Amino acid sequence: MDLTTQIPPADIRPGILRLDDSRIREVAHYGMKLGGVVPLWFGEPDEPTPAFICEAAAEALRQGHTFYTESAGVPELRAALAEYLTPLCGRTISPERIVITASGMNAIQIVMQSLVDAGTNVVTTSPLWPNCSETVRIMGGEVRPVLLSMGNDGWQLDIERLMDACNGNTRALFINSPNNPTGWVMPRDQQQALLDFAREKGIWIIADEVYDRMVFEGKRAPSFLDIASEDDPVLALNSFSKSWSMTGWRMGWITAPLGMIPTLLKMNEFNTASASTFAQHAGVVAVKQGEPFIARSVARYKQGRDLVYDRLSQHPRVRIVQPKGAFYHFFAVDGMTDSLDFAKRLVAEHRVGLAPGSAFGPGGEGHLRLCFANSPEILNHCLDRIETMLG
Ligand SMILES: Cc1ncc(COP(=O)(O)O)c(C=O)c1O
Repeated sequence: MDLTTQIPPADIRPGILRLDDSRIREVAHYGMKLGGVVPLWFGEPDEPTPAFICEAAAEALRQGHTFYTESAGVPELRAALAEYLTPLCGRTISPERIVITASGMNAIQIVMQSLVDAGTNVVTTSPLWPNCSETVRIMGGEVRPVLLSMGNDGWQLDIERLMDACNGNTRALFINSPNNPTGWVMPRDQQQALLDFAREKGIWIIADEVYDRMVFEGKRAPSFLDIASEDDPVLALNSFSKSWSMTGWRMGWITAPLGMIPTLLKMNEFNTASASTFAQHAGVVAVKQGEPFIARSVARYKQGRDLVYDRLSQHPRVRIVQPKGAFYHFFAVDGMTDSLDFAKRLVAEHRVGLAPGSAFGPGGEGHLRLCFANSPEILNHCLDRIETMLG
């Protein structure tokens, strides 16, 4: 059923009518209808949530954690996250600064609803996971993308250009590091320069750090929370999806200055009331006992990253660099001018699902995104077919 033929466009906000459908979903829906496609299109680990976390959720259900909870989230989870973050950040993060949300995506929505209005703008790096920019547009705001570039040592950002893109109407800088789709990681000196800039100009930094533990050197990517004091204009959002393989659970959190907490609680209340209660109890166990699982996962992803790099870097049509974080390769294909068409043909003719670069906004066309959080067998199978398609 095509709803747009039934609901008169005049009944729908113009800003919503103008939104594009996600092209990642477009390829995935196409592939799901065809069937038999190996899906590397979404950002999702191949393994299910570890058993000890599932068991904690089952136990929480048995214990009757089936009721509404506080808007800020279950106190035990806020405390566990504060305890988890404090040594990672090298400074005390108090539980009162943490608000649990129903996914990282929901954290983005709540933050944008709180900050963005018609006539304001948000400066981002680009290419970028489309949901981040679309949430700005849903609020009537303007997205000002600043391009990352692919250098020999990985993707890079000219931070001066990011600062130049800000004006008097800029409410926030949205920094997703490690970055989806490029794997770029913002270095500490750039974070410090940007924080100084944000303080001076009174602009928020929205730090999307959902891939913070998915790094191939060190224990965690540099975080704005490591350098920000507790009243700095930094909203750091995170998720249980990637670090603990909990994409289907829909649970995340925001670490904010204390002065912002009442606003975030209001927004939580009017969006979802809270994340699912028994899932939050399982989250406590994930955070407290999840380190060996994270270490094992990252070691597997590193193998996947290297395997894909070793094969695709040999291909004369492909330009590829090693990502420093997240679990994607975002590679350029010489002569490919329509990545959506290419991705659909790859699905139809070879049954391999990748995300088209054009889904990620300016700077994305001409590229494909491949999620390498998969086994060597799956990756080799897909690469055989991708190489056939590349010719
Ligand atoms: C950059 C980025 N931010 C936020 C999210 C949201 O994650 P979730 O809603 O699963 O917590 C994702 C998911 O892919 C992402 O790639």
